[in-house]
Amino acid sequence: MIGVFVRRWKLIGLVALGTVALLIFLAAIFMASGVYNVAASERHFLVTNKLLAFTLQRSIETHSMFVEVPKQNEEDLVPLGANHFSSACALCHGSPTERRNAVVLRMLPTPPPLKEAATKWTPAQLFWIVKHGLKYTGMPAWPGAQRDDEVWAVVAFLRRLPDMDRAEYRRLVRAEPRTESEERSPLVFEQKEELPHFCSRCHGTASTLPASRRVPALHGQSAGYLKRALEEYRNGTRSSGFMEPVATNLTAAQIDSLSNEYAERDPIHTAPVPKDSRSLKRGRAIAEIGIRESGIPPCLACHSGRASKQFPILRGLSADYMMGQLSLWRRGLRDETAYGAIMAVIANRLNQQQIRDVTAYLESLQNKHSADRPSAGRGGE
Ligand code: HEC
Ligand code: HEC
Ligand code: HEC
Repeated sequence: MIGVFVRRWKLIGLVALGTVALLIFLAAIFMASGVYNVAASERHFLVTNKLLAFTLQRSIETHSMFVEVPKQNEEDLVPLGANHFSSACALCHGSPTERRNAVVLRMLPTPPPLKEAATKWTPAQLFWIVKHGLKYTGMPAWPGAQRDDEVWAVVAFLRRLPDMDRAEYRRLVRAEPRTESEERSPLVFEQKEELPHFCSRCHGTASTLPASRRVPALHGQSAGYLKRALEEYRNGTRSSGFMEPVATNLTAAQIDSLSNEYAERDPIHTAPVPKDSRSLKRGRAIAEIGIRESGIPPCLACHSGRASKQFPILRGLSADYMMGQLSLWRRGLRDETAYGAIMAVIANRLNQQQIRDVTAYLESLQNKHSADRPSAGRGGE
């Protein structure tokens, strides 16, 4: 009895194995024959389409399950995301003011317009798509390694897109004065404005602020430092999905002249967020005296612009930008160069409260002694 049972199962097993082998063989012949048409000019079969869309949908849903959405000031991130979108994404996806190019329309799958993407995907799913890209579709992954903080700026923009009209988009990507009070603010510089409009859209001009508090002001920064920063983005030792693509397109001569131009400008003032005076007092002590017991040297010993042209001048940067950079060092990023390694040690010795205090103080400095700003000067050591 048992013998018959075993024999029957053996037979079923062999037939199943044989069928699988045959199927693999037929599939191999099909592939090797070259009959399958990979032309992008041919649409997929309906069933292939449905299968691919289903796989993509499920993969995104599963992989984004554990993405945590950070709490942050999204309003401030939208203009930064918009400016990156206009130069890096709109060529494929179109924008409120641009139609997709005829070449892109012949891609398969065709990059869809993203007007409604935020109603189709959750913020975590959008984040995952923009960070990782989509295999076999042409949708690229984020270029700045481990810069999740940057990806969220693009997500903030995508979330605003459903309600955004052409006028608002145009305003965002041209970095025109953002509010009435900014238009009225006494930021009067009569210097010529000949810096590339492209950089100004994010980094601000003599009369407009940077697009976001996450974007560093470049006006009045040390030329040696600016030049090195651009070279580092270009050779990949400093990671940023916003700046690496920009810097790769610059020639050495352009890097030189942009760095010198920016360094010669008067600093622009960010709009400091009010801070409580006790925090500023603690911050001032760290910046001027340091904290001996924690081995933290005074920031201004290196950062006033007098120590070395390779050290950035911090006055003129927003607290949010500085906090962002300090947290990169604390996450083990931006330490590939000798200069980055110096700052990594210091950043790791500061606690969160000290970081908030000292960056608030450093930001507040810009309104005090803009007159005695050390000349940033050309070139660098
Ligand atoms: C080279 C062209 C290309 C570029 C550049 C590109 N994408 Fe895509 N994107 C695609 C393609 C192709 C798809 C996949 C469409 C599909 O599978 O149906 C896609 C899909 C997406 C989706 C999912 C859309 C949906 O409705 O399912 C989002 C969101 C997205 N891209 C955002 C971006 C952002 C943000 C950028 C810029 C940082 C960007 N893409 C740059 C080609 C591109
Ligand atoms: C889409 C917005 C955007 C555009 C356009 C842009 N930048 Fe940037 N830039 C940024 C952001 C954001 C950072 C901070 C990146 C980081 O975290 O390292 C940055 C950083 C920099 C830095 C380093 C400054 C510092 O204090 O460390 C330099 C130099 C710079 N950009 C120069 C330029 C130049 C020159 C152009 C034009 C050719 C340009 N950028 C265009 C957004 C932009
Ligand atoms: C011994 C000199 C030294 C001291 C002291 C120092 N730094 Fe730095 N810091 C540097 C150098 C060098 C860099 C540039 C790193 C690079 O290029 O990657 C830097 C960069 C920075 C940046 C990034 C600026 C930008 O534009 O991206 C911030 C923010 C910063 N330091 C904050 C601080 C704070 C806050 C303190 C005090 C607690 C401090 N630093 C003390 C040397 C110093």
